[in-house]
Amino acid sequence: MEIENNDVNILTFCNISGLSKEDQDMLIRVGEWITPAIPALTGRFYEVLQEDPQTAPYLDGRLDVLQKTHIAWMKELFAGDYGEDFIRRQEKIGEAHVRVRVPPLFVAASMSFLRAALPEVVSRNMQDTQVAGKAIASLLRLMDLCQYLIDRAYNHSLMDNLGINPALLLRLQTIGSKTK
Ligand code: HEM
Repeated sequence: MEIENNDVNILTFCNISGLSKEDQDMLIRVGEWITPAIPALTGRFYEVLQEDPQTAPYLDGRLDVLQKTHIAWMKELFAGDYGEDFIRRQEKIGEAHVRVRVPPLFVAASMSFLRAALPEVVSRNMQDTQVAGKAIASLLRLMDLCQYLIDRAYNHSLMDNLGINPALLLRLQTIGSKTK
């Protein structure tokens, strides 16, 4: 992986997941076929978020902005630049979510939606099944790195506290536990 980074944990992530320069090359290569499908996929994703009673309130009055932000984030996955700035942008997502009280559950569920939906999008837009298979693996590795970085920043922000009281932190992490 072309990550010029002294972070030993990111290097371990790459060593174990297999995220490498090959994935970077692959994602740049397939980006032109996949990126046109991103807005439609994002539209479907936000429909699902609007249907869930816990996520829907977070979208009120911000749907357009959030969709645009999400499309931009997805396009970056195919930009081939996963250096310091890319890493910092993922970390900022965790920090922003803490600030606006988005529970980590929502990101985990969103990533799950995307991991399930993207292989079909890639296969539909790419004729060569061998390349499509490799592109899917590259994409999943990179998304896993994003989730790790978002979660890690989330946890750091929680530990730094950001002026949030401990009861609220617990509520964010255990959202929904009272509705069982
Ligand atoms: C794959 C999952 C997700 C990604 C990659 C993501 C990405 C982002 C990004 C890039 C930002 C802007 C961060 C900044 O200002 O620096 C953001 C902000 C935000 N996200 Fe997410 N997000 C995800 C899931 C969600 C979900 C599921 C919700 C709610 C249902 C949500 C709600 C928000 C809100 C409310 C903001 C703040 C918007 C504002 O500033 O008004 N996000 N997100």
